[in-house]
Amino acid sequence: MGSPFLWGVAGSGHQIEGGNVHSDYWLAEHVAASMFAEPSGDACDHYARCFDDVALLASLGYSCYRFSVEWSRIEPAEGDFDEPALDHYVALAERCRNHDIEPMVTYNHFSCPAWFAARGGWSDPDSVDRFGRYCTVVAEALGDRVDWACTLNEPNVGVQLREDGIFPADDQWREFDWQRDAARVAGGSQFSIFPIGPTQPSQDHLLAAHGRAVEIIHAANPRCRVGMTLAVQDYQTMPGGHEAAAESRRKAVDVYLDATGGDDFIGVQTYTRAVYDPEGVVDPGPDVERTQMGYEFYPEALGGAISYVASRTGKPVFVTENGIATEHDERRVEYLDRAVASMRAAVTGGAEVLGYCHWSIFDNYEWVHGYRPKFGVIAVDRTTQQRTPKPSAYRLGDHARAGRP
Ligand code: BGC
Repeated sequence: MGSPFLWGVAGSGHQIEGGNVHSDYWLAEHVAASMFAEPSGDACDHYARCFDDVALLASLGYSCYRFSVEWSRIEPAEGDFDEPALDHYVALAERCRNHDIEPMVTYNHFSCPAWFAARGGWSDPDSVDRFGRYCTVVAEALGDRVDWACTLNEPNVGVQLREDGIFPADDQWREFDWQRDAARVAGGSQFSIFPIGPTQPSQDHLLAAHGRAVEIIHAANPRCRVGMTLAVQDYQTMPGGHEAAAESRRKAVDVYLDATGGDDFIGVQTYTRAVYDPEGVVDPGPDVERTQMGYEFYPEALGGAISYVASRTGKPVFVTENGIATEHDERRVEYLDRAVASMRAAVTGGAEVLGYCHWSIFDNYEWVHGYRPKFGVIAVDRTTQQRTPKPSAYRLGDHARAGRP
């Protein structure tokens, strides 16, 4: 019997820490004509409260916490590494371990330093070296305290949004006014934040950066299991839709899976399904239940996504995100139970699954949408910063106590 199945929650620095003032997102939230519904502000004040938050996760019975280290805190100016910020994340990892929680560290969860965006972000070929230099500093600081790492969060999400028709095709992108303002404020000629913008040439640089990070993290801690996390919908078809679905999945998922040769696991992040007819994705129509994000309520997508990734790569899967935005926590409880049942079915079908992290730890900052969508298993009163676990938080604890799915 290998290592125990891990159960827990995931979050990302910019979405919960608060005051991430050197990041590209923070800058983009504050310029004129910003496309963000509201700025992230103090978020859930997790940077100050993370040690208590870990104790809360332990009390709920979780065995894993996936969090991200914020590049812009660690390297607020290019080449200038901030020791107290590094110490903070080392202490957070240690705090997890002291509470029998496996820390899973994401090296980059979308947000980057503002200086990086002003140099073209991931579209600049030097982004690979820039990320590599940062990863080396972080991996050496964390050392053998962290045995689970994700390099990049959803480097495929821009392609997926384009394939779903939510983002324009690469040659249709026009610079936003706020990007011009942001470039001016950051002292660059451009301002490129992921995943806003054309998917090329960023895709090549992201894939190269991933490969580089895997090597760096393995060199610093050979025991560390490293993977890329990917947005993976459950691709389903209507009559005649097979080719369109396969082509879309090839561009949005397979290209990335093909770059995971050196990885120890694939991080699967699933929220819903996409159904294809010969023309492309079909809208689910007015009668289906939808989440606050407008996605179809379809928890069984998780099992489909796991089975696909496991059978295509032959590698173990870790569910690094799965969840639902809703004001009605009883819908989250149902979503969780059904998603876990579908994960169990995928395991019975032959997939190796190492763990499950629900998205999200808290009701947090949902990027351009601000604080309206509620993804958390723990509610946060953002005036008092009081945390209140929802019934779904306890249900996740029940699954954790039940053990392997
Ligand atoms: C991202 C998270 C995001 C979540 C819900 C994932 O794509 O990794 O940052 O909050 O989906 O939309």
